[in-house]
Amino acid sequence: MSENTYQSPNKKGKIVIFLSGRGSNFLAIHDAILAGTINAEIALVFSNKKEAKGLQVAKERNLETLHLNPKNFDSREDYERAIIKELKKRDIDLICLAGYMKILSPLLCTEFLNKIINIHPALLPSFPGLHVQQSAIDWGVQFSGATVHFVTPDVDMGPIILQAVVPVLQDDTEDTLSERILKEEHKIYPESIKLYFEGKLLIKGRRVFFV
Ligand code: GRF
Repeated sequence: MSENTYQSPNKKGKIVIFLSGRGSNFLAIHDAILAGTINAEIALVFSNKKEAKGLQVAKERNLETLHLNPKNFDSREDYERAIIKELKKRDIDLICLAGYMKILSPLLCTEFLNKIINIHPALLPSFPGLHVQQSAIDWGVQFSGATVHFVTPDVDMGPIILQAVVPVLQDDTEDTLSERILKEEHKIYPESIKLYFEGKLLIKGRRVFFV
C-alpha cells in the first residue's frame, strides 16, 4: 500500500467539535477563533452524551449543537453513518475530538482520513488509552504532557502534530498533574488547528512535517 501523503488546506475551515464532557478544550478552540487566531468557524458541536457540559456551553455561545444517542442505532457503523450524513450536510473540513469518549470505527476514520484530530493527555506513543495521568505517576516518569495527533483506526497512534512537555512532581496527584497538562492542551490544540488551516501540515506516512 502506498504511503499516506496529505497537505492540510489553506482556507477558512469548517470545524465540528466532538465532545462527551466538560469541553474545556472546545472553549480554548472557540476562544482562539473569536480572537481571530484560527482561520475557521465551528459549524457544529456534536456529542454522544445529551448531558455533556460542553454541549450546554456551546448552546450558551449560540453554536449549533447536535446530540445523537448511540443506543438508538443497531451498530457503531450505523451510528457513524448518521453522523457522517450530518457532517456532509455542513461541508465539514475537520473533526476535532475534544474529550470524545467513544472510539471511532474505521468507517468514520476512512471517510474523514487526514481530517480528524485529537488531543491526548500524555506524550504519545507512551500512555495511550484512559487514566493516563495516573499511569504516568504510577510509572514514575519525570515528564509527561499532551499530544495533538491525527486520528487513524489505531487508537491514539496517528501522526503527531504538536506535543507539550510538563514535569511530573514527586507529590503530584492525578488532579494536579491533569491540571498542569490541561493548561498545555489549551495552547497546543488551538495552535494545531491554526497550522492546519494555514496549509502548513504535511503528513507523510506516520510523520507530520511543517511546511
Ligand atoms: C482532556 O484531558 C483531553 O486530553 C482528553 O479528554 C480531556 C477532555 O477535557 N482527550 P475537556 O472536556 O476538553 O475539558
